[in-house]
Amino acid sequence: MGKDKLRRFAENLSFERLFQPVFEEIYNRDYVLKGRWHEIFGNDNPIVLELGCGRGEYTVALAKKFPDRNFIGIDVKGARLWRGAKTIHENRILNAAFLRIRIDFICSCFARDEVSEIWITFPDPQPRKENKRLSSPRFVARYKTFMKTGGMVHLKTDNLPLHEYTKKWVTAAELPVYEHYTDIQSQCSDELLLNIQTHYEEMFSAQGFPITYLKFGLLEP
Ligand SMILES: C[S@@+](CC[C@H](N)C(=O)[O-])C[C@H]1O[C@@H](n2cnc3c(N)ncnc32)[C@H](O)[C@@H]1O
Repeated sequence: MGKDKLRRFAENLSFERLFQPVFEEIYNRDYVLKGRWHEIFGNDNPIVLELGCGRGEYTVALAKKFPDRNFIGIDVKGARLWRGAKTIHENRILNAAFLRIRIDFICSCFARDEVSEIWITFPDPQPRKENKRLSSPRFVARYKTFMKTGGMVHLKTDNLPLHEYTKKWVTAAELPVYEHYTDIQSQCSDELLLNIQTHYEEMFSAQGFPITYLKFGLLEP
């Protein structure tokens, strides 16, 4: 392992708002913060998740923009989470946190009605493994266990097949689709979508890939 990664892992241990449960704390059991995240934030404001957050650009930017909501970025890669965790630590952004887990164990970490909204930003498209896609019915069924009624999922990706796949099954399942764009630059004017760019988004945009967006609900209308 590179020295830089080791240095980041060591520094990660010093961040109060980076939670890194070990396998035994979440496998077939509830994590100690399940149902208690409001205690970390010291308020009952709505909780928003960013799944596969990488360096956490959306988590940080949304937390700054919406001080009356709490944001938790989730990823399995500690060296990437380091960036976001360091930023919120240094800037004392108190309505954000990061959680290092495999999202497969997300149900161990959040209780019924604990989460209001989910962002999935540039997830790995997993072309051959549908069940590993963070926007597949398998994962979305997990999110339903802790989302509040009326909760929304935002999917932002450069991968058109993943966008179309998700829109197709969501529509077939009769879940409400609220917005969908195959190229946000030319089709939409929402500054949240246009002005906040993740690390992968910057890379894909620079290569000329259009960025797609899908917003859907988790309950049948
Ligand atoms: C392509 S990167 C995108 C990162 C960031 N959202 C961005 O746009 O820059 C996908 C991220 O999802 C994370 N990821 C994929 N599957 C995951 C899983 N099952 N549990 C946790 N993280 C996962 C990876 O570790 C990676 O950081």
